[in-house]
Amino acid sequence: MRVIVCENYDEVSKKAAQIVASEVVLNPKAVLGLATGSTPVGMYKILAEMNKNGEIDFSSIKSFNLDEYYPMSADNDQSYRYFMNENLFNHINIDIKNTHVLDGLAEDPEKECADYDKMIEEAGGIDIQVLGIGQNGHIAFNEPDSFLYANTHITDLTESTINANSRFFEKIEDVPTKALTMGIASILKARRIIILATGASKKAITKELIEGEISTNNPASMLKVHKDVILICDKEAYGE
Ligand code: GLP
Repeated sequence: MRVIVCENYDEVSKKAAQIVASEVVLNPKAVLGLATGSTPVGMYKILAEMNKNGEIDFSSIKSFNLDEYYPMSADNDQSYRYFMNENLFNHINIDIKNTHVLDGLAEDPEKECADYDKMIEEAGGIDIQVLGIGQNGHIAFNEPDSFLYANTHITDLTESTINANSRFFEKIEDVPTKALTMGIASILKARRIIILATGASKKAITKELIEGEISTNNPASMLKVHKDVILICDKEAYGE
């Protein structure tokens, strides 16, 4: 795992945007794996600016998002589909039909998950996967456990994640307790992975990711088996 330590959040956003943009320049038909959460918002803003300035073209780009709450309707302003439209898709020249987010209202969630993995495969696999990291080490919604799922699946959220994500909801009872999420193998199949960690709340887990052993209790540590992972963090997350 390569580590890029940046001065602050803005610099992390810029570095991450430059890496994603370079993939898009090198392969105008690239398949992007995208993440939600507050961390990648700055990166999305820069990518949108680069698109507006004519530096990068998303017209033939496909995207697959990591996860979605369950149950959750796409037009709910807390859905990850809504988040992606608001923070990126509405501001770039991507064909919305080429953007994929798991259906949080799928009647048969198992089928939805299996179909999602198949669609990613049929698209040729993910060229670059963007990840954030939960304070407990979760990636997408793969929560620390004695067992991790390989493929896209339905999962229960841990108390730590429900607490952390409650800041986006009116009250904690509104946070869904389940989600559909890409699994660890689905993520590891991406040809390149960048993981972003910023702010003091990510300091402990960033240290654990860099120095700790591979363990299902820290799902992000699974990334250590991948040959092309770049951790981009700010000084607050990196610590001393
Ligand atoms: C959510 C998402 C993750 C994200 C994490 C961190 O639970 N499912 O994909 O990485 O939160 O979010 P933030 O960037 O807001 O700290």
